[in-house]
Amino acid sequence: RTIHILNGPNLNLLGKREPEIYGHDTLEDVARSCATLAMELGLETALYQSNHEGEIVEMIHRAREAAAGIIINPAAYTHTSVAILDALSAFDGPVLEVHISNVHKRESFRHHSYVSLRAEGVIAGFGIQGYELALRRMAVLLG
Ligand code: DQA
Repeated sequence: RTIHILNGPNLNLLGKREPEIYGHDTLEDVARSCATLAMELGLETALYQSNHEGEIVEMIHRAREAAAGIIINPAAYTHTSVAILDALSAFDGPVLEVHISNVHKRESFRHHSYVSLRAEGVIAGFGIQGYELALRRMAVLLG
């Protein structure tokens, strides 16, 4: 079974962008550590990133056919996107939401998430380790 790990805007700059908030590891490091852990868990992972809301919607549509579960860090679209929420609602499997930073410790506009209305669980503030923790949880949810 394949888990799609979807990432929103500016996360292509992970490791270079505001490292005091998001750390020095890159999205490639995330892809690598998740692929290794997935093997242990009897899963596979595919990681995608886009800076465009409509492309993220289409990634979620493709996951309907191709993925057993979705781990998503919608980045700034977390706080704005009904379209991403609606796309996730059209996906049948489990959805887990990840934020690298502790959004609750930051500006109040980051405290609300549209995506949380559809997510089975949310991880925030665990750095890139949050993706691995979400993957472990996904293995439990998928039995
Ligand atoms: C983020 C938190 C969002 O508020 C922010 O817009 C991001 C990244 C995180 O992973 O901590 O781009 O989703």
